[in-house]
Amino acid sequence: NWTMERFVDTEIDRIRKVVGPTGQVIGAVSGGVDSTVAAKLMHEAIGDRFHAILVDNGVMRLNECEIVHKTLTEGLGINLTIVDASEEFLGKLKGVEDPEKKRKIIGNTFIEVFQREAERVMRESGGSVDFLLQGTLYPDVIESISFKGPSATIKTHHNVGGLLENMRLKLIEPLRELFKDEVRVLGTNLGISEDLVWRHPFPGPGIAIRILGEVTPAQVAIARKADHIFIEEIKAAGLYRKISQAYAALLPVRAVGVMGDKRVHDQVIALRAVETTDYMTADWFDFDGKFLRKVAGRIVNEVDGVCRVVYDITQKPPGTIEFQ
Ligand code: XMP
Repeated sequence: NWTMERFVDTEIDRIRKVVGPTGQVIGAVSGGVDSTVAAKLMHEAIGDRFHAILVDNGVMRLNECEIVHKTLTEGLGINLTIVDASEEFLGKLKGVEDPEKKRKIIGNTFIEVFQREAERVMRESGGSVDFLLQGTLYPDVIESISFKGPSATIKTHHNVGGLLENMRLKLIEPLRELFKDEVRVLGTNLGISEDLVWRHPFPGPGIAIRILGEVTPAQVAIARKADHIFIEEIKAAGLYRKISQAYAALLPVRAVGVMGDKRVHDQVIALRAVETTDYMTADWFDFDGKFLRKVAGRIVNEVDGVCRVVYDITQKPPGTIEFQ
């Protein structure tokens, strides 16, 4: 694919020119395709003068930090710092049930933690950090233009504007002319694993918006385990690439169940899996019964506190992909 190779060469040249021979760049990574590809490109261009930061917000998927450390640090050689801010995030989420409040708290706390870390990197590197890397894609550019109207409150995303102003950083967005499928090709060309390149999108507020009701450490543990089992079975069945996005949500209700010879009142897991190309409309994925039976069996057996599993068969619209 010669055009993509040319894109890499041109972009690396451009980054080197813009950043200069001693300039440094910081950027947040999430474990997703976009931020990983952007980070790898930056690393190819300026090596350890690019500082990647992963903020552990306490609501990422099971073992996510370890996975990101393995792929980025060990696999791709990227200079990565992982900041464990889970207690800070979970502390602020205590008692909060409203999904938009959850989003705001997570977004604002992310900015605070990231700024603190960026300031530390700046101090330790002698103060020549001038740029903030963002893995913005072309559709994000369009969306942020068209969503600037008065009804821009549909769902709030991270806002880095304040960060740029407070820290006097300039934005660098090497993927801003690319679509998702092009980013995947680029990632493959840069030696990023198929597993990562084809990862489903994961929302910034993480499983906090997939736990309906209050987000407590105990609820996070339940949602994580159930989600992990679901995704593991999807991969084992060879269905991961056919599905656009899949996850387990933890519902805020209790249902009755019989476990052994005891009646229990435990929680309910809802599975969601959709096929979509644009994420504006989506259809539920038509698993066969055998698959769903196996996943449900594993979840009620392996996840303490769950006695029932349901499958969401709502199309978007009206049902959004996320539950909240
Ligand atoms: P909905 O639920 O609106 O989701 O059908 C469409 C796509 O957007 C993702 N999503 C988010 N991503 N922060 C994010 O970074 C958010 O607050 C958020 N809410 C939804 C969702 O996962 C799906 O891919």
